Amino acid sequence: MGTEALRVNNLDVSYGECCVVHGLSLALQEGTVLALLGRNGAGKSTSLNTFSGLLQPRNGSISLFGKPIERSSPESVARRGMRLVPQGRRIFPSLTVLENLQVAEQQVKDRPSTWNLERVYSTFGRLKERSRQKAGTLSGGEQQMLAIGRALMGNPRVLLLDEPSEGLAPMIVAEVAEALKKLKAERLSIILVEQNFHLALDLADEIVVLNTGRVAYAGSAETVRKQPELATRHLGVF
Ligand SMILES: Nc1ncnc2c1ncn2[C@@H]1O[C@H](COP(=O)(O)OP(=O)(O)OP(=O)(O)O)[C@@H](O)[C@H]1O
Ligand SMILES: [Mg+2]
Repeated sequence: MGTEALRVNNLDVSYGECCVVHGLSLALQEGTVLALLGRNGAGKSTSLNTFSGLLQPRNGSISLFGKPIERSSPESVARRGMRLVPQGRRIFPSLTVLENLQVAEQQVKDRPSTWNLERVYSTFGRLKERSRQKAGTLSGGEQQMLAIGRALMGNPRVLLLDEPSEGLAPMIVAEVAEALKKLKAERLSIILVEQNFHLALDLADEIVVLNTGRVAYAGSAETVRKQPELATRHLGVF
């Protein structure tokens, strides 16, 4: 067994009195991809937002490389090496690609592999080509790459990606899938929330399916590739 990047135990999350995540447990091994799937409203974004410190859980624990973070602020979680790329890609539309990346830059000197502008540009050649272009004029897929690039500038070891292919045309989805493969090849540990089952299955090592806030299925992607219905019966895809 390798190093555990993220471990979540028995997590409950509520909005006021309304509990939307119930007893979620999962483990992400370093350098692997865990796909967190589920229908609209299943609690996927709520889970990612809680992992990243934006929401406080009602119960349960979250540890990042063995250190508890369930009471940490988003800034502290980010400093410890986990970054969220939120649903809806928050970039600055009136700034150029380069400016968007520069604003996100953070020097972290105590880690062996650090991301900088050069490395982001060599991973996502498209962003380099568009360096001087205003981010608001990029295609949806390019905006998603930029949102990921911005997260990388903070030197993460763990990335939380909330529906990177949402609202993109099929050709552009393929581009984003390629970009995600490159991140996996860079040994980043990734939790991927996706509605696109095939994209997720193609990339993932582990699959967790949420149904109304509870784990309905958890298993290896290999198993699900052989028997997709294990997951799809909770997803409404065929
Ligand atoms: N700020 C909020 N206040 C109250 N309820 C919320 C809030 N945000 C989400 N919810 C509710 O919590 C449940 C889970 O929402 P969440 O956004 O986590 O789902 P999701 O799986 O990410 O869905 P989608 O695929 O549509 O993005 C839903 O019933 C939603 O209506
Ligand atoms: Mg969501």
